Amino acid sequence: MTPRVVLVGPMGAGKTTVGRLVADALGVRFLDTDEVVEREAGKPVAEIFVDDGEPHFRALERAAVTAALEGHDGVLALGGGAVMDPATQEQLTAHEVVFLRVGLTDAAQRVGLGVSRPLLLGNVRGRIKQLLDERTPVYESVARHVVDTDGLTAAEVADRVRAVVEDEVRE
Ligand code: S3P
Repeated sequence: MTPRVVLVGPMGAGKTTVGRLVADALGVRFLDTDEVVEREAGKPVAEIFVDDGEPHFRALERAAVTAALEGHDGVLALGGGAVMDPATQEQLTAHEVVFLRVGLTDAAQRVGLGVSRPLLLGNVRGRIKQLLDERTPVYESVARHVVDTDGLTAAEVADRVRAVVEDEVRE
């Protein structure tokens, strides 16, 4: 069993919203690794960071990514930082990975104050910029396809992702 498509990209790229739409359109299930981690820990991501620290969150995330890549056959969205793990990068080479690209302005608008996202606390715009700079090359390196999301609605992005996935199946 393998996911039909794996969505990667930074916070504010719309992975969860778009992922649900793509899953509905394809008639498959949607899974988000943040949700798996929250279920496992019994609390929201923000609380895991505060109570247990980021390394603990990353360990839960790694386990969730591995299980989902092996056991989920629908649309899978990875938390924005999951691709920074070298083992995850290696695993992703075997998958249909789509990078949802977003620029600073749209990402900042979409996350708002970022209260549920511990890595953004303090200076949302500055932190997003830093993370985009650090991580964009990694998203690009693991992705087979890139879909730009700036200025587009979630439905428009979902249509583009679906087109990419369906083209791949026809090839
Ligand atoms: C993170 C992104 C979040 C969540 C956690 C850390 C990151 O997921 O996993 O707050 O390191 O970029 P989303 O990208 O779904 O917001």
